[in-house]
Amino acid sequence: VSPAAPDNRPPAQLPAPAPDELTRSNELAQLIRREIAAAGGALDFSRFMELALYAPGLGYYSGGNPKFGAAGDFVTAPEMGNVFACCLALQCAEVLRALNGAEILETGAGSGALAADLLAELERLDTLPTRYLILELSATLRARQQAALARRVPHLAARVQWLDRLPSSFRGAVIGNELLDALPVERFRVTRDGITQLQVGIEGDAFVWRERVAEEAIQQRCAPLALPEGYESEIGLAAEAWVRSIADRLDAGVLLLIDYGFPRAEFYHPQRAQGTLMCHYRHRAHGNPLRLVGLQDITAHVDFTAIAEAATAGGLAVLGYASQAMFLLGCGLDEIAQRSDARDIAAHTRLAHEINRLTSPAEMGELFKAIALGRGVSAPLRGFRLQDRRGRL
Ligand SMILES: C[S@@+](CC[C@H](N)C(=O)[O-])C[C@H]1O[C@@H](n2cnc3c(N)ncnc32)[C@H](O)[C@@H]1O
Repeated sequence: VSPAAPDNRPPAQLPAPAPDELTRSNELAQLIRREIAAAGGALDFSRFMELALYAPGLGYYSGGNPKFGAAGDFVTAPEMGNVFACCLALQCAEVLRALNGAEILETGAGSGALAADLLAELERLDTLPTRYLILELSATLRARQQAALARRVPHLAARVQWLDRLPSSFRGAVIGNELLDALPVERFRVTRDGITQLQVGIEGDAFVWRERVAEEAIQQRCAPLALPEGYESEIGLAAEAWVRSIADRLDAGVLLLIDYGFPRAEFYHPQRAQGTLMCHYRHRAHGNPLRLVGLQDITAHVDFTAIAEAATAGGLAVLGYASQAMFLLGCGLDEIAQRSDARDIAAHTRLAHEINRLTSPAEMGELFKAIALGRGVSAPLRGFRLQDRRGRL
């Protein structure tokens, strides 16, 4: 075991946390330090990330901080307005009609904005599912989702049920927006002596990087990539396992995942030599996950080739893969845009701004991708009628 190279990215100037936030962060740091000590001095990065994000009551997603929106740390597509949800509703309606009597399962529902807007649009399309299920790890977010649905679509809230675990079988549309990027990743480094796996240890009060020989699954994954010495990146083993567990439970239907990421060849591109791990704190992005523990989001891009492989290993077919922009246009973004009354200049401008953020290649349009994985659904999905890049995976 030798200490890993220090993070050589410049420290970001971040706003100071409030005293109560610091107290909570210190409590979480204590908990992680105890687990590091019990593990003999270091934890695999994936476990550190899991605790930093999801330790009950203290982790980033489990704590009470705002997270999404202007007062939080980052903005997701459903927080910008209802265009994203309306597009997804058109895609879900197609799946629900094809399966005749199916349900929706949203995984990682954030503030509840997507669920509220999706249900409202499905009602307009006269394709409401009998049940809209939500699987959410965070108890505080679950409470926020319940409040949002009761406030925004009170007449539909009774259709929504929260699950504690994946159902043993499911028929319908499973959706996850920015879910995969929030699952813990392993970090590895290519050294002269082979592939090492990054861990987190303690020096004084601070968390520091440690290294060990990488576990077999990581060695096997890295071997064909032929990466140069010094290259550092991530492997999303938890995301692959998660997709596999959905594949095992999906009797018929579509798993639709939208997130930032690339096919494998681009993910492990020689120029991405420091990986894709990113932290967000009050709309500032930086690369050091060992600070502000529990107060900042930690995220990594998605290797969509790995997601497709996990799905096909579980017996699902890859039904489509496209940029977010082309997926939303395929769903029917133009129809939704035409609903706007151009005489209401303020509303029309807001809508144009929202569409630009969702589709511009300089914003979310190209970095974000949609992938559909399914069983028992043969018809081509509307979201991929304008672009289908399955061949690039
Ligand atoms: C980046 S947020 C995205 C939230 C929302 N989908 C959006 O677009 O605004 C990730 C969400 O996934 C949840 N989450 C993480 N791991 C999960 C898991 N294994 N099962 C269900 N939800 C999970 C988090 O608590 C959080 O709500």
